[in-house]
Amino acid sequence: MLKIKKQVDLSRYNTLKISVKAAYFAIIKSETDLAEAYIWAKDKGLSVFVLGGGSNVLFSHNIKALVLKNEIKGVSVIKETAASAWLEARSGEAWSTLVNFAIERNWGGMENLYYVPGTVGAAPVQNIGAYGVELKDVFVSLRAFDLQTGKVKIFNKEECKFAYRDSVFKHKYKGRYFILSITVKLSKQAKLKLDYGDIKLKLKEQGIKKPKIRQLAEIIRQIRDSKLPNPAELANAGSFFKNPEVSLSAFKKIQGRFPEIKFFPSAKAGKIKIPAGWLIEQVGLKGKRFGSVAMYEKQALILVNYGGASAKQILTHVQRVQKAVEQKFAIKIEPEVNIIK
Ligand code: EPU
Repeated sequence: MLKIKKQVDLSRYNTLKISVKAAYFAIIKSETDLAEAYIWAKDKGLSVFVLGGGSNVLFSHNIKALVLKNEIKGVSVIKETAASAWLEARSGEAWSTLVNFAIERNWGGMENLYYVPGTVGAAPVQNIGAYGVELKDVFVSLRAFDLQTGKVKIFNKEECKFAYRDSVFKHKYKGRYFILSITVKLSKQAKLKLDYGDIKLKLKEQGIKKPKIRQLAEIIRQIRDSKLPNPAELANAGSFFKNPEVSLSAFKKIQGRFPEIKFFPSAKAGKIKIPAGWLIEQVGLKGKRFGSVAMYEKQALILVNYGGASAKQILTHVQRVQKAVEQKFAIKIEPEVNIIK
């Protein structure tokens, strides 16, 4: 039986630990719970807001909707051949549980995404990525519940329109679907992606030439531990900004002034991706505290809340950072975190 609570404080349900209230709140453990919540909200004329791990949201005010905390869990093997395995994971499962499931079986494709916080259902929304791999590289399809019609729809990869930290669920279908499950295809003879600078460095340090999937996952864990604050210890939402993609000519201009600038090729033709963490460090905002808010001292792309920061204080800091970067580099950096306005 679905339990709907009133006026629930959401601070324990978002990793930036912002205290706002949900007018109504329910924990969804099954598709039956979801169908019930959908009918309840429809009867009341309320909209529905879907919350996964809360690791990529910034709430800027109380939420007048029915907030659904997704806890529909489970991972299963749905197909296997000599070369590949297909896994279906339910959306409320922790992303790392799914990755672990694959690593334990020595199935490759997701190991670089080990320890990305959040849930399986949130992964396609922003096409999560780390260390040279994105969800889209293993993604096959997803099932989603349409919050407008109550029907279930299957999306294939093309329909999701994946791009750098982007998908159709951030644009045309923003807020429209409750993702129920995703299917990924993994390889039993995986070619590991070892090109990322930090990975190469660690492999060299540890004298590993041909890592196994498990060893690579462990290296990813070590890299993340050394740079990224654990949200359970220090409130944060991962990278706060996207890395900006600029034209080659704009990049050349900046490189002329700052020859040491770091950069990556972009998936977009004629564009160069510049690490926003580097830009933020250059404007002197890395590790500089303003009240309880700062860009993290070990990774300037991570906005941290040392305790008690309000959404307003965070948004003020976001503007401060954007302005400083724009003044020095004429580049507008955009939030990657989903700001609920
Ligand atoms: N850098 C600095 N100063 C900093 C931070 C970074 O100079 O304070 C430079 C580094 O020296 C490095 C470059 O920027 O040369 C890239 O840094 P890093 O490898 O730490 O990655 P990132 O570009 O800052 C992106 C993702 C992360 C992901 C890492 C690893 C985005 C918005 N962020 O960060 O994803 O884990 O690459 O692949 O694309 C997330 O999305 O929440 C996230 C953590």
